[in-house]
Amino acid sequence: MTMSTPALGTLEHIPLRPFGRVIEAPGGDAPVGDIPVDTLARWTEESRVLVLRGFRLMDTQEFADYCRRWGEVLKWEPGEVIDLVVEDNPRNYLFASGDVPFHWDGAFVEADPRYFFFQCLDATAGAGGETVFSDTTAVYRDADAGERARWERISITYTTEKMVHYGGEVTERLVAQHPATGVPVLRFAEPLDPARYKNPVSVRVEGVDESEADAFVASLAERLHRPEYCYAHDWRKGDIVIADNFALVHGRNAFTGPTSRHLQRVEVI
Ligand SMILES: [Fe+2]
Repeated sequence: MTMSTPALGTLEHIPLRPFGRVIEAPGGDAPVGDIPVDTLARWTEESRVLVLRGFRLMDTQEFADYCRRWGEVLKWEPGEVIDLVVEDNPRNYLFASGDVPFHWDGAFVEADPRYFFFQCLDATAGAGGETVFSDTTAVYRDADAGERARWERISITYTTEKMVHYGGEVTERLVAQHPATGVPVLRFAEPLDPARYKNPVSVRVEGVDESEADAFVASLAERLHRPEYCYAHDWRKGDIVIADNFALVHGRNAFTGPTSRHLQRVEVI
C-alpha cells in the first residue's frame, strides 16, 4: 500500500508481524507533521504500533508541540518529554539495562494516556533491549467464554513506591473498553519482584480466590508473552514510533551487550 502527498512523496507501508506497520518515507528527511494527524491516528488504530522511518527527528520542544496536535500532552515532573537513556547507576529499573516487564503507561497518574510517542536519537544494533508490545485485544479475542467471564469479574490493585516520576496505588478492572474502537482490552501490569527490580510493584487481585491469585497472575503474564501476541521493536536511530497505550501493554527485553541508547517519549491523553 502506498500513499502519495506532494510534500512527502510516496510513503511505503510495510506490515510487521504479528501486528504493527512501518511507514517509510523516501529521502530520510520527511517532516512527520506533513501527514495529517487523523490519517496517522487511523493507521495507529488499525495497526496499534506505527514505526515511522525516513522522517526527520524533532528537537525536544518541537517533539512536544507536535504531539500536542494529537491531544493533551501529559506533564511529568521532569517535563513533557522524558529522556530514556540506558545508564550505569540507575535509580529506577526503567533506566537500567535489565528487562522491563509488561505494563501500560500512566497507571499511576490520573489521566490514562491514549498514545505514546517515541523518537530514537541513538541506538546500538544487536545489543538487545527491544521494546516488546503485546496486543491485549488479540489475547481477549482468543480467550474462551469462560475465561472472558472470569476476567470481567477481576480487578487488580497495583502498589509502588514513588521513585522517579510516578508512584502510588491504583485499582483497575482487568477488562476495559478501548476509548476509540470500543473493543475489550486488558489492563495488566506484571508484578515486579523487589529482589530483582529496583522499583518493585506489588499486585493484589480481587475476583479470584486468594489461593489462586499468584497462579492467575502468572498464567495471564505467560499468555501475554506468547509470540503470536508480541511485536518486539528493535530500535534504529531515527525511528519515530507511535503506539496505542490502550490496546497494548509493553515492556523491554534486557540488553545483551554494551549499548548507548537514547529514546525520547511523550504521552498524549
Ligand atoms: Fe512504559
